[in-house]
Amino acid sequence: MKYKLPRGTQDILPEESRKWQYIEAKAHDLCQRYNYKEIRTPIFEQTDLFARGVGDTTDIVQKEMYTFDDRGGRSLTLRPEGTASTVRSFVENKMYGWADQPTKLYYIGPMFRYERPQSGRMRQFVQFGVEAMGSADPAIDAEVIGLAMDFYSELGLKNLKLIINSLGDKESRRNHKEALINHFKPRINEFCKDCQTRLEKNPLRILDCKVDRNHELMVDAPAILEFLNEDSVTYFEQVKTFLKDMNISYEVDASLVRGLDYYNNTAFEIMIDGVGFGAITTLSGGGRYNGLVEEIGGPATPGIGFALSIERLLMALETQGIELPLEDGLDAYLVTMGDKAKTAAPKLLHQLRHEGLKVDADYLAKKVKGQMKAADRQQAKVVLIIGDEELSTNSVMLKSMATGEQELVSITDITDKIKNYKSE
Ligand code: HAM
Repeated sequence: MKYKLPRGTQDILPEESRKWQYIEAKAHDLCQRYNYKEIRTPIFEQTDLFARGVGDTTDIVQKEMYTFDDRGGRSLTLRPEGTASTVRSFVENKMYGWADQPTKLYYIGPMFRYERPQSGRMRQFVQFGVEAMGSADPAIDAEVIGLAMDFYSELGLKNLKLIINSLGDKESRRNHKEALINHFKPRINEFCKDCQTRLEKNPLRILDCKVDRNHELMVDAPAILEFLNEDSVTYFEQVKTFLKDMNISYEVDASLVRGLDYYNNTAFEIMIDGVGFGAITTLSGGGRYNGLVEEIGGPATPGIGFALSIERLLMALETQGIELPLEDGLDAYLVTMGDKAKTAAPKLLHQLRHEGLKVDADYLAKKVKGQMKAADRQQAKVVLIIGDEELSTNSVMLKSMATGEQELVSITDITDKIKNYKSE
């Protein structure tokens, strides 16, 4: 075979895409209940948006972006995540001036990261994410976390672990940064090149370096929680109280820093416990980004959001043996006997589909036996048999696939009859 799909991508074939449709429908439904509105932004943006938004010392920006010049010489990048694009659109469309605030948005769409592919880590993957901009109320942090947890639990997932941390406000972060520099500086030459440049620019990034994660200095690195000022502590306490009120259990992990630069205060990840899931156990992540809107050129506006990938969700469902309640099978399969019946088929099919039924028929001139087999494979509830006799009386022979019972039904009653079988 000459052409193969690119590394880290996949074809989603019909058997699998039914699951995707189910999950996407669930996301739309959940967002409606939480009153988040869908936004669809382009798949590529100006490169600088991500460099600024996600942060130019992050792995995503330094190593993982699909960046190219278009024919006009502009540097564009396939979006590695959805937050920067959503915030760009929020600013560009002046959503901060809309009557209803906070602006609550969600998206479902492909993201692209040049990562080393492995199970659960793709180069093209689909994120479902939500972003709420315009409120600094800790209740909205709890709402976003609640939405994420609801999404998983409504799909039947168990053994989820919610991990939260606070990255503090500007002042807390400044103090923490200083402590990190003091901690790492004396031995920074033992760290990778990236960490050496991160030291002065963004030492927090050292903490989630994949290369140096086992260095002994990582173990006792100063944790942000020790540097939170009073405001940040109070904010974090409020978020935790709301989570308790909502019966959402969590664990505080002082080492959770997240891999993107825009976070402050609340940061969280949802992990899955359990065997068979391999090395990757993070299902989703998010947090607060109070400086991002301003960074991207808008007025100072707080924000919070999260994103998950549907690929990892599907893996989790599979690991836990959860079958989604997918609708299977046709309502009816039309079986024709003879040329006249075959000629009459398109009209009848068209009519039945028009009336809302899922029906199909044979297009390969199969014999009756072959048509019956197809009906069985397609899990049709009934077959509708038409031959010369039925045609002459304007009727069809309806046969239940479950019981084998047959009855002659007039064409005018056929839709209602099939619907009866459907609801049985
Ligand atoms: P993130 O942690 O980079 O955050 O990604 C969020 C989720 O996307 C991950 O937890 C994981 O489920 C999925 N994901 C990331 N990379 C891959 C990959 N290579 N293959 C499969 N799945 C992947 C963000 O992207 C932030 N924009 C989240 C956010 C929204 N924060 C605030 N608002």
